[in-house]
Amino acid sequence: MTAVHPTTAARGYTAVAIVLHWAIAAAIVGNLAIGLWMHEAIDIAATRTRAVAVFQLHKSIGLTVLLLTLLRLLWRLGHRPPPLPAAMAGWEKAAAHATHGVLYLLMAAIPLSGWLYVSTQWRGDAPLLVPTVWFGLFPVPNLFGLQAMANEARSAWAATFLDGHELLAWSMVALLVLHVGAALKHQFIDRDEVTGQMIPALAADRDRPPAAGRRLTLRGGFAAIALAIAATGWAVVRPPPPAGTSVTTASSEVTSAPGSWTIDPAQSTIGFSGANAGTPFRGRFTRWQSDIRIDRASPGQSQITATIWTASATDGEPMHDEALPTREWFDVAGFPTASYRATSFQPAADGSWTVVGELTIKNRTAPVGPLRLELTADRATITGQVSVSRSTFDLGMESDPAGEWVSGDIAVEVRAVVQSP
Ligand code: HEM
Repeated sequence: MTAVHPTTAARGYTAVAIVLHWAIAAAIVGNLAIGLWMHEAIDIAATRTRAVAVFQLHKSIGLTVLLLTLLRLLWRLGHRPPPLPAAMAGWEKAAAHATHGVLYLLMAAIPLSGWLYVSTQWRGDAPLLVPTVWFGLFPVPNLFGLQAMANEARSAWAATFLDGHELLAWSMVALLVLHVGAALKHQFIDRDEVTGQMIPALAADRDRPPAAGRRLTLRGGFAAIALAIAATGWAVVRPPPPAGTSVTTASSEVTSAPGSWTIDPAQSTIGFSGANAGTPFRGRFTRWQSDIRIDRASPGQSQITATIWTASATDGEPMHDEALPTREWFDVAGFPTASYRATSFQPAADGSWTVVGELTIKNRTAPVGPLRLELTADRATITGQVSVSRSTFDLGMESDPAGEWVSGDIAVEVRAVVQSP
């Protein structure tokens, strides 16, 4: 039979509890600093670009804290913490229990208040329709349909939740001071085992090697925490991406309508570009169909139309890709396609044709152009860049009517190479 070491019981916390404690502590302290910085930085032109990215980071870390806190509480149900030293006075024990209880409460309430705040999709005196994408991996839903409330209610609730978030965050700062102060007192004044139970390196029996499983969990856990801190640090300080480097790897579905000249998908794109909070973006529509019939003898009889599936718009930035299909932008549910139709073909002196047309997005039609069409013996190449005004097509007009965040005019770049039948 294996003998149980007499200090096992005194050692107290499981390795899982210790790792969770330090992971949550690091995330909370980091998020306090990040939150205070970004709250100011978002309103300063010079730091706005970085702040937009940091907002996503803050929300992702905060939601992780909520998840880890739930895990910690579940773990606690099956693994009771070690008892406080018998030498502690009754009032000290009561204060310790109360502090720990309020800490758990704040660990859940701070992220929840932040989540409720962003769920209103409102900031200051205007809507701010920005999805939350957890570490750029998947979208997090808004809670309780708060964003669908009337603007007055949204504004009032947003202010309440943000005030609450801030108040809870400062309460956490006060409690952390108390908590760390108590840990120092246990270590240096009372000289008992309490602090060593959570910091194994300080434990009285630290010279005795811990069991292999426990050692592995502690080492693995602390390595994961160090890695997460390094990754977060890098995400905060790395230089912003250079102009238009968002790349899309989504495969395309570019087709020709029956009877149309045949499009070459490898050489044909409909792209778009602009800037969001000072950071350029460049994306494209990955699904569209063209119907091109060119009449060399009488240009006016030619026809160019294109159907563009709005759900296929992507610039590779998860936050944008999450926002584009919403009602505020392309409203994919209401308007699954946009379309283009050429309205005139004018041969120019150099042999090319000038093509003017109209664009329909969200049932709003407006002229765009011109595009340039070049003909060879068996093919046509259509190229050009047209400017699409967001206000004309009701794109992002609720959250950013003045083009303060996203360019008011989006450049749409077209290239289509088609083969005659
Ligand atoms: C450990 C968790 C969290 C901590 C410690 C924390 C802390 C903070 C702090 C200190 C601020 C600055 C408040 C101010 O000065 O007004 C802040 C702002 C903010 N927090 Fe959190 N937060 C946490 C979780 C979350 C979560 C989960 C979300 C959303 C999903 C969130 C969303 C926000 C937003 C959007 C702001 C900026 C408010 C604005 O300027 O519009 N936070 N947070």
